[in-house]
Amino acid sequence: MGYEFICPEGSIAEGEKKAFEIANKKILLIQTTEGLFATQAKCPHLGAPLEKGVLLDDNTLQCKYHRAEFNIKTGKAEQWACFPPGIQALNFFRGEKNLATYETKVEDGKILVLI
Ligand code: FES
Repeated sequence: MGYEFICPEGSIAEGEKKAFEIANKKILLIQTTEGLFATQAKCPHLGAPLEKGVLLDDNTLQCKYHRAEFNIKTGKAEQWACFPPGIQALNFFRGEKNLATYETKVEDGKILVLI
C-alpha cells in the first residue's frame, strides 16, 4: 500500500469528477470546494459508473441509475437504491454497502491517492 500518481494537479475543476484506473483499481476522483476526495468508481449496488452520478453537494454523490447516495468523505451509504419504484424488492438481495474511500494528497504538482 502506498501513494500512486493519479493525474497532474489542476486536472479536475471544482464540482467535477473523473474516473481513473490505477494499480488495477478503478478510482473516482472528486474535486469539491472542500478539497479532493477519492472513492471506488463503480456503484456498490449494481456497478454503475459513479462518474456519471450527480454531486448533490460537497458531501453527497448520487448514483444516476437507482439514486443511491453516498458520503464521498466517509463512503457511507446515506440512502440506498430507491428508483424506480419497486427496486426495494431487489434490495433484499443487494443489501446496502458503503463506498471504499481513499486518501489523497497533492505533492509537487501531482495528485496522489493512497491505494
Ligand atoms: S447501480 Fe447505483 S444505485 Fe443501482
